Amino acid sequence: MSYTLQDFCAEIHDILVAERNDDGREKVRQKLEQLLANETFIEQCCGPDKPVGVYKLNEDPTTGAVVLSHVMGEGTISPPHDHGNSWAIYGQATGYTVMREWERTDDGADDEDIALEKTSEYRLDPGQVGLFNPGVIHSIEYPDNARFVRVTGVDLDGIDRKAYNLKHKTVKTIRAESANQG
Ligand SMILES: [Fe+2]
Repeated sequence: MSYTLQDFCAEIHDILVAERNDDGREKVRQKLEQLLANETFIEQCCGPDKPVGVYKLNEDPTTGAVVLSHVMGEGTISPPHDHGNSWAIYGQATGYTVMREWERTDDGADDEDIALEKTSEYRLDPGQVGLFNPGVIHSIEYPDNARFVRVTGVDLDGIDRKAYNLKHKTVKTIRAESANQG
């Protein structure tokens, strides 16, 4: 029998209750690889007939973890941003995503004159899953019609996050409950 969304949510619940740390996140990452191998799940949540949008598939009331499917339309490059103190796990369903991590290299004193340095870049193809640890500044780039499943430690709309502008060398805080940039 296929590994279902319900199986996944039940297993990551147990993992995150027991291990809210690097080991637990790595286990969740591996479980998402298992879920992405379920073709029925991919068809239902990220298939070609699914309208463009972001769908909440599950929110765990105990751990706070949220599972979302992102059915994207036009391709884009997101600006670098963080997810506050939440981690995020991205699993590619269709298309691909380029994952980039950044580090702030100025002294942090002036949010109107920042410097970021790219520290890693890799590409996720269908079935592959990447992890951004808490606080990591990151950006994603994907082509038209890319689809992915994302698991975050909490609902990102409920926490403050930071968004960086490379052109203007600025950083802004996105307050809780405002639009989510992915
Ligand atoms: Fe993000």
